[in-house]
Amino acid sequence: MDIRAEIGVIGGSGFYSLLDDAEELELVTPFGSPSDVVTVGRIGSRSVAFIPRHGRDHRFAPHRIPYRANLWALRSLGVRQVVAPSAVGSLRPEYGPGTLVIPDQLVDRTSGRVQTYYDTAGVVHIPFADPYCPAGRAVAVSTATDEDWEAVDGGTLVVIEGPRFSTRAESRWFSSNGWTIVGMTGHPEAVLARELALCYTSLCLVTDHDAGLEAGQGVTQEEVFAFFKANIDRMRSLVCEVVQRLPEERTCPCRDALAGVKLPFELPE
Ligand code: ADE
Repeated sequence: MDIRAEIGVIGGSGFYSLLDDAEELELVTPFGSPSDVVTVGRIGSRSVAFIPRHGRDHRFAPHRIPYRANLWALRSLGVRQVVAPSAVGSLRPEYGPGTLVIPDQLVDRTSGRVQTYYDTAGVVHIPFADPYCPAGRAVAVSTATDEDWEAVDGGTLVVIEGPRFSTRAESRWFSSNGWTIVGMTGHPEAVLARELALCYTSLCLVTDHDAGLEAGQGVTQEEVFAFFKANIDRMRSLVCEVVQRLPEERTCPCRDALAGVKLPFELPE
């Protein structure tokens, strides 16, 4: 394939307009089709492939997203660094809607999602102590600051199975554990990126206080969608700038995630 990209963005449909000279690719991977056509184009001097996580028409609920196909498709285009914006709920009173969190840890509370490429022949254990790319996180935090958007540098994202939101008891338990934000799509996206030795940076926009922190009705889909939509321009310009500032050469540990491991199949170059 001669169309290549160095950076992948997996995000909401509002991100299409980021790309100049865009081409649409219909890709099929050994793990099925990605969420939608992959749009490849440029942001400044960087080549970028974009996948709308839920599909253009938002047809995939968080637990139905073809995560493996999405990451595989990006890698097969040459992508080695992934930027992943998403909406999250806050588990801390001081982080209200509009807060940007660049998490450094993740807790998996999903159930039943396929979370590995390596479930056929052979045993592959990959390091995941630090699930996010340190270089990508540093770029995200400093870029946000330059855009007058003070980011929370670090924090734990707990990923729930969804599609329902958490009960108050679950939410209180999450915050009493010291976890920072809650979402539905950060896992297995992050671990699958690591299994392909990709850098993965999560940009989390707080859209609501989660149920454990709220006196009222709890979180609604309407509230989350409306807030994300109202902030899409801000997220778009952040993603655009982050992409342009990502390092051209990788020196982070993510690229060596598979060092010394005997893979049961070859990864796409
Ligand atoms: N996405 C946005 N807000 C959320 C919440 N409160 N819980 C889970 N996922 C979310």
